[in-house]
Amino acid sequence: MPDAAPELDPALDLTLAAHALAAQPRAYAPYSKFRVGAAIVMSGKIFEGVNVENASYGLGICAERSAVFSAVIAGAHELAAVMVCTDASPPSSPCGACRQVLYEFARDPAAVVVTSINPAGERRSWTLAELLPDGFSGRELP
Ligand code: THU
Repeated sequence: MPDAAPELDPALDLTLAAHALAAQPRAYAPYSKFRVGAAIVMSGKIFEGVNVENASYGLGICAERSAVFSAVIAGAHELAAVMVCTDASPPSSPCGACRQVLYEFARDPAAVVVTSINPAGERRSWTLAELLPDGFSGRELP
């Protein structure tokens, strides 16, 4: 039997979902037309992100990473929760690059709930440890 979906505190879940939904229309995605909004909790504060694309396609950035970088700019380094909103059905999961960037700031990846929603009300959730098992933490570096 698969593991039960991890659950976030219901009030925080609602707040983060509202932020991710509100951010999604601010995505700059004229090329893919795939708008993504993210809302994360880092060091006790909520930060939003959107995907920002570029005419030089490879320069675009995902919503999850833009949220993390906003948090770091504000001095927040400890990731607690992630909410992502796209129009995908079923809701899509974060790309590999974003999983690695989220992992950098997760003290306990098994305790970080990542939830993906869409405006129709569908949802999926995982822990970050499920999304990136045995991830590269940097502790291996000299
Ligand atoms: N994208 C995100 O922002 N987050 C994801 O989790 C998956 C993909 C963006 C990147 C690009 O702007 C567009 O969605 C299509 O890949």
